[in-house]
Amino acid sequence: MHILHVISSPRSSSFSIQLGHQIVEKLLAAHPGSTVRERNLATHPMPHLEEAYLQSMYTPAEARTPAQQAALRHSDEAIQELLEADVLVLGAPFYNFGIPATLKSWIDHLCRSGITFSYTAAGPKGLITGKKVYVALSSGGVYSEGPMAVYDFVAPYLRATLGFLGLTDMEVVRVEGTAVPELAATALPKAIASIEV
Ligand SMILES: Cc1cc2nc3c(=O)[nH]c(=O)nc-3n(C[C@H](O)[C@H](O)[C@H](O)COP(=O)(O)O)c2cc1C
Repeated sequence: MHILHVISSPRSSSFSIQLGHQIVEKLLAAHPGSTVRERNLATHPMPHLEEAYLQSMYTPAEARTPAQQAALRHSDEAIQELLEADVLVLGAPFYNFGIPATLKSWIDHLCRSGITFSYTAAGPKGLITGKKVYVALSSGGVYSEGPMAVYDFVAPYLRATLGFLGLTDMEVVRVEGTAVPELAATALPKAIASIEV
């Protein structure tokens, strides 16, 4: 099994990174001999989508100039890495009610009509299928239940966008309340105990 671990927290003591590593460890224990590839979007961010990228994306592959091909390099790489994986472990810190811009940029680079999704008579169809996704979602507050649950735009967003690409088999593991004094100490052990692979 090939595991792709995507990191998007820039913090060395990150909860989402620690939780992601724990998910990877459990997967390795359950599937000995598996390989792990790590993509760190905090240390190696992908550029925001620029005009050259968009022009190239809408140009048929056979008509692209070398410069246009180069503009798609990050996207091609990100898609290839994901296609080669059987399992995606996705670290997602909760930032300002959404995800870090680096993670959003990675997702933008993954969404390519005709490559990762297509439109059919029956509606849109995701083309990245047969993979399992584990989201290691860290948040200062609590969004799984209670009054803040309506402000959880992260898990629904990831389900919608990655599901649109065909990644519909998704488990969200939460380390939450990391900024709540009475929850902070137990947040990570509780999250780790809830991992099911
Ligand atoms: C820029 C920034 C924005 C944040 N926004 C939110 C937020 O909207 N809601 C929340 O509950 N926590 C928020 N937090 C707290 C983080 O979600 C929390 O510290 C989490 O553990 C960060 O993930 P990490 O430990 O993997 O870095 C924010 C933290 C930062 C640094």
